[in-house]
Amino acid sequence: MNRENIAVNDEELKKQLVTIDNLRYELKGKELFYYIETFGCLMNEKDSEKLSGVLREIGYVETQSIKQADFILYNTCCIRDNAERKIYGRVGNIKGLKQKKPDLIVSICGCMMQQEHVLEKLQKKYKREVDIIFGTHNIYKLAELLSTRMEVGHQIIDIWREHKDIVEDLPSVRKYKHKAAVNIMYGCDNFCSYCVVPYVRGRERSRDSGSIIQEIKDLVNDGVKEVMLLGQNVNSYGKGLSEDITFAKLLREVNKIEGLKRIRYMTSHPKDFTDEVIYAIRDCEKVCNYVHLPIQSGSTKVLEEMNRKYTKDHYLNLAEKIKKEIDGVAITTDIIVGFPCETEEDFLETLDVIRKVGYDSAFTYIYSKRTGTKAATMGGEVSAEVINERFNRLILETDKIQKENNAKRNGITYKVLVEELSKSDSKLLTGRTEQNILVHFEGDESLIGELVDVEIFETKGHYLNGKLKTES
Ligand code: SAH
Ligand code: SF4
Ligand code: F3S
Repeated sequence: MNRENIAVNDEELKKQLVTIDNLRYELKGKELFYYIETFGCLMNEKDSEKLSGVLREIGYVETQSIKQADFILYNTCCIRDNAERKIYGRVGNIKGLKQKKPDLIVSICGCMMQQEHVLEKLQKKYKREVDIIFGTHNIYKLAELLSTRMEVGHQIIDIWREHKDIVEDLPSVRKYKHKAAVNIMYGCDNFCSYCVVPYVRGRERSRDSGSIIQEIKDLVNDGVKEVMLLGQNVNSYGKGLSEDITFAKLLREVNKIEGLKRIRYMTSHPKDFTDEVIYAIRDCEKVCNYVHLPIQSGSTKVLEEMNRKYTKDHYLNLAEKIKKEIDGVAITTDIIVGFPCETEEDFLETLDVIRKVGYDSAFTYIYSKRTGTKAATMGGEVSAEVINERFNRLILETDKIQKENNAKRNGITYKVLVEELSKSDSKLLTGRTEQNILVHFEGDESLIGELVDVEIFETKGHYLNGKLKTES
């Protein structure tokens, strides 16, 4: 792919900004509220910040009350069946809301909309309920779509099969003052056989490093201390760009940005995790000593069926190398239980990896059959009973190890980025260590957004309690 194809399109940007201005003018004087609900991963969270930015610029004010809203937006996910079911639940309630407020506009966007069968259903069954439907490749067009809907008065559908341009620099609203996510690439080319993402997010494409660096510098000037570099497979960052750049080089460049305190990234695929990336994490003081390394299954046979392109041994060696090179590193993972034809022996291999790596945390999922993926046609379904039994054993094991790992943290002083007041006790602050572990401690609200030293005096399964030492 050549670079022109993925350059920021200035013309489109101007067009959208003019539409935003026109809408603001048309809607002037009206008190309008929007309600947004985001499902799925950090990619969607980031998209929702962009969508909120456009709505605010038009003049809408965010509300947490769906009844107050004049515009409702659902940003959807379809990674597993339960994510989709939630959306249909929401759509089912729209009729009642519209009866009470006939001018209400409802829009649904995101990954789920990129699937033909979903679109058909929404077109057939919910023509009156859902006013605007768009996908993942054209979120920047929200103002234009809203304007068209207001003109024509009927359902608008705009889904692109593939992306055309990357349009950045539209207004965006950040959820947190001190941390922000930055897209470094879009899409995925890996086609893991169970996964719907390559079908709904399109082909992999990287942003050029200059625009990434500039965005981070602007964020830092605006008070951001921690950035999360986002991509489905950050380790393949740079492929297809004309500049000489890799993920390791990008980390080193971002590390040079003055005022930035922490760098995180999500997600790193084990197949592309080069030594250069390990050394960059080791050498760059701002890059957190935290690696999310999804294993999915410990069985080499299942990994092959999943099209993950690594073996159990490769993974274990990689995890060992990461631990050896990066001081105090925390490793976390994603695991799928019940992939087609998974046997008890395969599952035992997964438990074996869990024990050998000793994960600091694991996200565990029950396999969900996704229409259009290769695994959906594989047959060999594992029964719900067996899956549940394996899932429970898996959780017991991962929880036990996490607790053991945390117990070793007693008495250690960590640098903690203070995030917010504790949800359960407003006298306490909550922050995260470099290893992404949650820490609660007493302190003043003014410390939110600061990096402080906290000494741990109590360890729990999923979090730590500590005492504030000195500010830094
Ligand atoms: N790009 C990331 C993963 C994004 S999806 C990576 O490859 O690491 C996040 C997680 O959802 C995956 O790691 C996987 O564990 C899980 N997942 C994806 N598809 C799934 C499916 N069909 N059923 C169950 N879990 C799934
Ligand atoms: Fe899905 Fe695999 Fe791509 Fe991750 S790398 S998004 S699991 S296809
Ligand atoms: Fe993310 Fe769900 Fe889409 S996990 S990429 S929002 S399918």
